Amino acid sequence: MAEFLPEPFRIKVVEPIKQTSREERAHILEVAGYNLFNVPAEEVYIDLLTDSGTGAMSQEQWAGIMLGDESYAGCRNYFHLAETIRSIFGFHYFLPTHQGRGAENILFSVLVKPGQHVPNNMHFDTTMGNILARGGRPSNHVIVTGHDPTAWHPFKGNMDIAALETFIRQVGAENIPLGMITITNNSGGGQPVSMENIRQTAEVYHRYGIPFFIDACRYAENAYFIKQREPGYADKSLLEIAREMFSYADGCTMSAKKDGLVNIGGFLAMNDETLYQKAAQELTLREGFPTYGGLAGRDLEAMARGLWEGLDEAYLRYRIAQTHYLADQLRENGIPIFEPPGGHAVYVDARRFVPHIPAEQFPAQSLCVALYLEGGIRAAEIGGVAFAHRDPETGEWVYPSLELVRLTLPRRVYTQSHLDYVVRILAALWQKRDQVRGLQIVYQTPYLRHFTARFALM
Ligand code: F0G
Repeated sequence: MAEFLPEPFRIKVVEPIKQTSREERAHILEVAGYNLFNVPAEEVYIDLLTDSGTGAMSQEQWAGIMLGDESYAGCRNYFHLAETIRSIFGFHYFLPTHQGRGAENILFSVLVKPGQHVPNNMHFDTTMGNILARGGRPSNHVIVTGHDPTAWHPFKGNMDIAALETFIRQVGAENIPLGMITITNNSGGGQPVSMENIRQTAEVYHRYGIPFFIDACRYAENAYFIKQREPGYADKSLLEIAREMFSYADGCTMSAKKDGLVNIGGFLAMNDETLYQKAAQELTLREGFPTYGGLAGRDLEAMARGLWEGLDEAYLRYRIAQTHYLADQLRENGIPIFEPPGGHAVYVDARRFVPHIPAEQFPAQSLCVALYLEGGIRAAEIGGVAFAHRDPETGEWVYPSLELVRLTLPRRVYTQSHLDYVVRILAALWQKRDQVRGLQIVYQTPYLRHFTARFALM
């Protein structure tokens, strides 16, 4: 029997959710063009589309909302947030943004010129999209094991240090305005990166004079994995681990909608004063004045409080145990998952679930559609729809190595019985997996097509 750690909280406010019939869901899918982003959330029973902005805020955060200071400039919540970010992340400067991609847009718009390269262990779709939108070239250098859904590695999100250095030499450091690492590696199974690897990545970037930025969305989960798995860190506090991780970097982009436990919010932080000034100017144009950056004062307060709660050890222990509980149950039912389970999600390996569906018919998207039809569960496609791209030289479609269905767990939202239901539905689908049908794209956009594409059943 899989272990389950009881929640370190109880429920004070409830939100009703609705179960629909199979016939209703078949109709909803047809209207939505078989794209789950087009399905109204009220028609979803268990929503595992994302862990982004979908968490439940605490009583402390809701109380903080009432302390929002809505002054245009210099609101008190900005100073509370500044103090929090300085304590946890340690960077000299920061700018609030409405979410993670707001921070990416500001950063890349001041640093990236057309034709320049931005390496990462694995870019998330918005970082990839924001770099491409500036004419830049995103590249991924995760360790080879990171592409293998069955191999166990404690830090499967690690950068391939040798490959990174070869790449830098090939394209020339002068063509790399910044280098990144994503913790945890969302596009590669939510896998953590070790402290040693963050240190080595920083060392390589810095040796070539390249500024190093961390995509920090799930830094707290990453810190928890370091404490659990990396020798020498068991007795360190999560705050100490977080501080050490960021001490190696020159800045970070953060979507606080993840480990900041808020429904909206993010920031860009850095040490370089000149870069800060340029970014602040861009922020004022695009997001807002630097002391609010596209957010209300109350949002800044919820973020300042959420950042601390996201680092709480009792919360993280429960959080990671919940993910592992779901993974254990799926494994017991014979369902192929990306091993080991990540921090924020369990990723079902669609290649092995529906081997009869070829890459051009989007195995992971097909499985997402089948999962909604079967049980009103919404999951996220992390495969060819989100990540296939045309090779800039040949114009050919290049498909990603992984086809995954991400069962993403919103923070502090679903209970054990909700997860048991998810397992029951997936197990039923596994029994009739040969009936799952592939999909064909009938409409798409140049960037971030997973949000907009429409499909037809094959
Ligand atoms: N970086 C990573 C690693 C992410 O996972 C996300 C968002 C972002 C950047 C962008 O942040 O959404 O606040 O603009 N990931 C969400 C997801 C959307 O579902 O994985 P954002």
